[in-house]
Amino acid sequence: MWLWSRPFCPTLRLCGWTALMHAARNGDHNLVRALLHRGCDRSPLNSSSQTAFDIAKFWGHTHIFSVSGPVSGPQSPHEMFFSAEPLDRLSIKRPDQDWIRTRQKDPRTVYLLFHKLSPMTQGGEESGPVGTQSNYIVFTTDDITTFYSPIICNTEVTFVQMCSDLDQEELLKRSKDKTCSFPKNPHRDLLRLSEEEAGLVAQSRSVLAWHARYSFCSTCGGRSRVEEAGHKRSCENTTCVSHQGVHNTCYPRVDPVVIMLVLHPDQNHCLLGRKKVFPPGMFSCLAGFIEPGECVEAAVRREVQEESGVLVDPVWYVCSQPWPMPSSLMIGCLTIAVTTEITVDQDEIEEAKWFSRQQVIDSLIGGSRAAFVVPPRQTIAHQLLRHWTGLTSNL
Ligand SMILES: *[C@@H]1O[C@H](CO)[C@@H](O)[C@H](O)[C@H]1NC(C)=O
Ligand SMILES: *[C@@H]1O[C@H](CO)[C@@H](O)[C@H](O)[C@H]1NC(C)=O
Ligand SMILES: [Zn+2]
Repeated sequence: MWLWSRPFCPTLRLCGWTALMHAARNGDHNLVRALLHRGCDRSPLNSSSQTAFDIAKFWGHTHIFSVSGPVSGPQSPHEMFFSAEPLDRLSIKRPDQDWIRTRQKDPRTVYLLFHKLSPMTQGGEESGPVGTQSNYIVFTTDDITTFYSPIICNTEVTFVQMCSDLDQEELLKRSKDKTCSFPKNPHRDLLRLSEEEAGLVAQSRSVLAWHARYSFCSTCGGRSRVEEAGHKRSCENTTCVSHQGVHNTCYPRVDPVVIMLVLHPDQNHCLLGRKKVFPPGMFSCLAGFIEPGECVEAAVRREVQEESGVLVDPVWYVCSQPWPMPSSLMIGCLTIAVTTEITVDQDEIEEAKWFSRQQVIDSLIGGSRAAFVVPPRQTIAHQLLRHWTGLTSNL
């Protein structure tokens, strides 16, 4: 058996195929497992925009990928960036103060240090292309007590320790690693984390952002205290209405967003738009927040019409992605246009266009034939585009 370690696997291609693609084509369960175990990247596309998994699916060998988890939608859930769940959330243990206190002192416990919602990471903040840099700094209980206890306030028994006034320079100065920094631009820099790190950051950053913005009771305006290891805030006013009945103010927010790939009635084109803030040349799927009392399907129809003037129906759910900026849940859908004339709402997007399937494939592959800049692979928009080109591929 021959194996490659991570740096060689994606680049070793025979006839444009990676080793993983060949193993997938041949339904070689052991080889696929060995390659994935060695960290082989499953994201490369061949010129027909097929991943190794698409190839396995086409040849009826989907079972060979089941070793790495369930497969649904465009990718298995833990492959969607920010979705990795490397830790058991243990929500059942959250109210147990004694258990939490013991864990906090346990030498095996690890900590992440955030400053203003940025995790402390290693390496220069500008180093490495998107998706390759990694490594936030994991602190042990010992590091925390040795280096940080003089400056970290520890008034609450919780995994979330909030210390709003800590000075960034002071935190960096005390770090044992001198190459560390705090990313300044989360939209760009958090995408450089490894998949597992991104999963942890998605969870912790969203909870921290909630604490930073919701420190008072939204019902009576009184003080609230942190409970359940940082996953709940209870009003300290015992007569407050928030203690009666069902309320959603005590728990961290999750804000649902629909993001949709709109297919042309010919199903050979799709509608993409660009916002002014996008990098030059980039087009992406339309998206918007779900409003109160609105179902996913209605939100998709409304947002597409508002942003582009195009009417759509029906709507299919494809996959979802947590997006910790600060705590959205992106709900990815496919939908088919009923009308094709575009009238752009200039407040929301500056341009929207129909792109052919071939243009999307060329752009996913990149290089000189690209018609537009595709959003990075860490985004659900990228995965929806890839899902669509995979669905209609002529393997
Ligand atoms: C990509 O995969 C498809 C499907 O197996 C195949 O027909 C095509 O030739 C491949 N492209 C390259 C460049 O190998
Ligand atoms: C406590 O809650 C009650 C009922 O909502 C309210 O009338 C009262 O002003 C609150 N007290 C404080 C100190 O916020
Ligand atoms: Zn209250």
